[in-house]
Amino acid sequence: MRIAHFSDLHLCSNFKKSNRNKIKEVLDHALENGAQHFVFTGDITDNAEEREFVYFRELLQSYNLLSSDKSTVIIGNHDIFGGPQTAQDVANFPFKCLNINYQERVSKFVSYFRELFENTIHPHEEIYFPFAKELKSVVLVGLNSIDEYSPFKNPFASNGKIGKIQRRIVENLLLLPKFKDKLKIVLVHHHFYHKSDISKSSESSLWSKIESFTMKLRGKKKLINLFEANDVSIVLHGHSHEMCEYFRKKIRFVNAGASMEGNEPSYFLIDAFPFDVSVSLQKFSVAKEKFAEAEIASIAV
Ligand SMILES: [Fe+2]
Repeated sequence: MRIAHFSDLHLCSNFKKSNRNKIKEVLDHALENGAQHFVFTGDITDNAEEREFVYFRELLQSYNLLSSDKSTVIIGNHDIFGGPQTAQDVANFPFKCLNINYQERVSKFVSYFRELFENTIHPHEEIYFPFAKELKSVVLVGLNSIDEYSPFKNPFASNGKIGKIQRRIVENLLLLPKFKDKLKIVLVHHHFYHKSDISKSSESSLWSKIESFTMKLRGKKKLINLFEANDVSIVLHGHSHEMCEYFRKKIRFVNAGASMEGNEPSYFLIDAFPFDVSVSLQKFSVAKEKFAEAEIASIAV
């Protein structure tokens, strides 16, 4: 099973328009490289706008990837709360977040990609996170790590939390007898960095720099222990905008958060074998002029 891992596409109608072209470039590249399943670990949109979800849904459809056996998506903080794009947005952001119905946004996210949640095991008819999806010799476990907005505990709506209830459900999923001999892969938006690693992150925009100081994942240690106790082989995530691989308690973590950064779109190829995985970073240069042309074309439209 060859899996292509992307994250933080940040599709946006008014800004970052080149990302629409970059995602096509990386999808083409991954298909040429024989990827059989496509994983997107959150922040698919930049501002949680319906047209961006629909754009991505239709893009997957055009690539014949809009089915549960071909693609898996999980939710990121920008898919619920969006993010400020102008100085005025920064000032209004707390009020915007206060008025967002968290559960409604999660349900909407699932509804945009309903085909990708078919054939998953999830807690309730209407509660889709966490879920497990069986793909041949692999089981993917998808989490919702997005914490609710709080002016004090989560002022930039970018912190994460995996609470006791979600951990218990994840454990029950991993312990299912039918998954005993499967290679276990966890998908989550937030990273598991040590504090000292965060400052090294190469965040591009001012907002990303602010966010990088408020990207904590509460419940991280307990989650790592849970992964270790239940033979999780690899954790795929994004959130911090860089491409890297690191280990915590012998568990491999892969961050594809910079899939759309700069002029070098990139992604990871994960080759899953019965008891092992191999990971390779795929990074390629695309002519800058190509993206400039695309931006001009999309403004004209
Ligand atoms: Fe994020």
